[in-house]
Amino acid sequence: MQDNKIMNLEVEGIEEERIETTLRPQFLNEYIGQTKVKENMKIYIEAAKKIKEPLDHVLLYGPPGLGKTTLSTIIANEMKSNIKITSGPAIEKPGDLAALLTNLHKNVEEILYPALEDFSLDIIIGKGPTAKSIRIDLPKFTLIGATTKAGSLTTPLRDRFGIVERLDLYETKDLEKIVKRSSKILNINIDDDAADEIAMRSRGTPRIENRILKRVRDYALVLGDGDITLKLAKTALNKLEIDELGLDDIDRKILETIILKYNGGPVGLETLATTVGEEVETIEDVYEPYLMQIGFISRTPRGRVALQPAYRHIGIEFKNK
Ligand code: ADE
Repeated sequence: MQDNKIMNLEVEGIEEERIETTLRPQFLNEYIGQTKVKENMKIYIEAAKKIKEPLDHVLLYGPPGLGKTTLSTIIANEMKSNIKITSGPAIEKPGDLAALLTNLHKNVEEILYPALEDFSLDIIIGKGPTAKSIRIDLPKFTLIGATTKAGSLTTPLRDRFGIVERLDLYETKDLEKIVKRSSKILNINIDDDAADEIAMRSRGTPRIENRILKRVRDYALVLGDGDITLKLAKTALNKLEIDELGLDDIDRKILETIILKYNGGPVGLETLATTVGEEVETIEDVYEPYLMQIGFISRTPRGRVALQPAYRHIGIEFKNK
């Protein structure tokens, strides 16, 4: 559950964080893609405003980098509320409300439930015979949970979110709009075909795309006049070792491991992770969603299997087994 983040805040460099913040849309109408989630949220927000109630607790889940934190901030902005962002590992004491939101011990989770349902907090002060239980009334709030793994939440916790929305990998056309929007904010000139190229190589993930954009911009500044043309984008992406499908060296290592070392699979996730030298969670949350989406691997009960397009991509003959 370590990866579960209540309103996740990524640990990144301060500069990276600052730029990322400026690239993040602030309101729903600036948020590109995720149409279904957006339309649903719009209704729920409007309804909550109409009845002057806080929005129900929201659980957002999906692979990292798709905008769960961004969407959380947008929800707060649209509701004209304040937002406090925290993350699982950042919280220790069961005393603060924040700790309640992420501490995974069952007893703490149970203190959270009245907070979520009645906006009240029962806290025990002191120890032994003099211990007292006091009840604190909380201001009404909406908890927005953001996690890559909704499945790791306990059922009682998951059930307390009235709104549950899954974010999916973005389509290329939406990523193209996003990279153009980001370029505009960062004062970068980018050609349409270059934007399309970056979009295609960003694995459906705006965070990856914005990171690539900044690195391609660096190449443009040093090798050219700062403008991003298709030729320059391709040169930069090749230097970054991001291939035509957006796969990086770790993606390729995963595919080569399954195909060459384990004869195409099935190979268990743990074995795969150890062989590749990455954490199980990284393989599962960061790499697999895209590899599955493009039909390169599949998860089977007996382990991970490489599919025919994966063989073709890394140039190994597919033998039908
Ligand atoms: N930047 C990152 N994600 C975005 C999104 N979904 N819409 C607009 N800009 C973004």
